[in-house]
Amino acid sequence: MVSKKRMPHVIGTVKFATTLARIHGFNENVAEFMGYAHDLFREVDWSKLLKIAKIYGIKTNIQDKVRPVLLHGKIAALFIKKRFKIEEEDILSGISYHTSGYKDFGTYGKILFLADSLEETRIYPKIDELRLLAYKDLDMAFYEVLRNKISYAVSRDLLVLPETVEAWNESVIKRNM
Ligand SMILES: [Fe+2]
Ligand SMILES: [Fe+2]
Repeated sequence: MVSKKRMPHVIGTVKFATTLARIHGFNENVAEFMGYAHDLFREVDWSKLLKIAKIYGIKTNIQDKVRPVLLHGKIAALFIKKRFKIEEEDILSGISYHTSGYKDFGTYGKILFLADSLEETRIYPKIDELRLLAYKDLDMAFYEVLRNKISYAVSRDLLVLPETVEAWNESVIKRNM
């Protein structure tokens, strides 16, 4: 389901996620699985994504209607839940919200989110600093990548997803506690 063109990103995500899991003392196999699964529906037609979301009973919001590609994570999570009988909330929410971030991410959610944004094929200013930060501190890196995503979206007139804003607010509160 993943094109040749997207494979380097998927492999990069797997590599970065397993590295983060190893460094921070988590299960590399879980991180590897999440890396391979996260973009399974990334290249499915938008009309099909909307149909699958309906079949799966996913509630769509205004952002999903404008950009159905945003549904690819939620659909992938429900797909692996059904296909592999995976019930772990941390894995499912990690895949669901890998694009937006999520205020209730567990560690694997943060690992996948960071790997998706910081893997080796991504190029943007300060990415090397963010990679080093992720090796040192997952929460701080999560905070900084959220900051980056929000600034990037605002500066380019793009949507800021509600889950991103919620995750940001939650991180700010935690930092100041
Ligand atoms: Fe994705
Ligand atoms: Fe991705």
